[in-house]
Amino acid sequence: MEINLKDKYRRYFKIGVATSNEQLEKDVKLILKHFNTLTIENEMKPEHILVQPDTYDFSKADKIVDFAIENKLDVRGHTLVWHNQTPLFLFDELDPSNPREEMIIRLRNYITKVMEHYKGKISVWDVVNEAIEDKGETLLRDSPWLTTIGEDYIDIAFHIANEVNPDAELFYNDYNATNPLKRQKIIDLIKGMIERNVPIHGIGLQGHWNVNSPSNSEIREAIEAYAELGLKIHITEMDLSVFNFDDHNKYEFLPDDLLKKQTERYQTIFEIFREYKNKIDSVTFWGVTDRYTWLDDFPVQNRKNWPFIFDEKSKPKDSFFAITDFDE
Ligand code: GLA
Repeated sequence: MEINLKDKYRRYFKIGVATSNEQLEKDVKLILKHFNTLTIENEMKPEHILVQPDTYDFSKADKIVDFAIENKLDVRGHTLVWHNQTPLFLFDELDPSNPREEMIIRLRNYITKVMEHYKGKISVWDVVNEAIEDKGETLLRDSPWLTTIGEDYIDIAFHIANEVNPDAELFYNDYNATNPLKRQKIIDLIKGMIERNVPIHGIGLQGHWNVNSPSNSEIREAIEAYAELGLKIHITEMDLSVFNFDDHNKYEFLPDDLLKKQTERYQTIFEIFREYKNKIDSVTFWGVTDRYTWLDDFPVQNRKNWPFIFDEKSKPKDSFFAITDFDE
């Protein structure tokens, strides 16, 4: 029988993919064949849903969610509270006599509206995305949520989410979560939340990695450290850039040596994931095939990247065979 990812990994963890409506249409067969959980790449973010103050548009996100439900796929809700891709009007014209309280009401309204809309359909939410500062000693990054509400905006968001749907699994999701400095900050944040009885159930490690980093030991140490908190772990946004972050090279076609390096990295990283199958619940790729990736414009604009295990023609790459070549 031809290999498919979700069956090959059924005793390990769920295999997910982030998609837009456009990608879903193009690669529907591939998605149905290989994946058992979906994330909506952009169309469920606040800027797409809250189109005007008090006007919500769920239509684009609903199309993907309905497709998932019809086909018995899980959906990860992504994302409720974030400094990015969130309309700025949400923070405008606050009552100067009590801006914090008014902002908490807006936060409550937004989370309630979105989670209620998807009740019974989505049971896992990235409640807060990327709240930690990457560098230095500062714990929380600059964000309009932080400036309007204060440091407890994260606790408040999780409490609200839990009130709206006490059965939902609530996640904190971040990138560079394997970097030792940032990892410690994420752990400090979450330990504090647990001590304050904030309902948090999981941590999302985004997995925007590249062919050179993070190291195997950084990946292991991160998984072990987060698992020690007693939280579920999801790898939420896996893509393996063929470029280091500060590399500005450009290629018309993916050079063989980089393809080989990427294949080896994918193989090793999935070996590590399988080793930690009791701690990892799902691994989601941040895109379907090399035909489209957000990395084509980040961090270098208009530069092709090839971060996935399916190529531009939706065919499995060597990395696909490398991560499925094991005895179950
Ligand atoms: C972050 C976000 C995602 C997405 C990627 C880039 O990782 O969590 O929603 O925006 O950046 O596509």
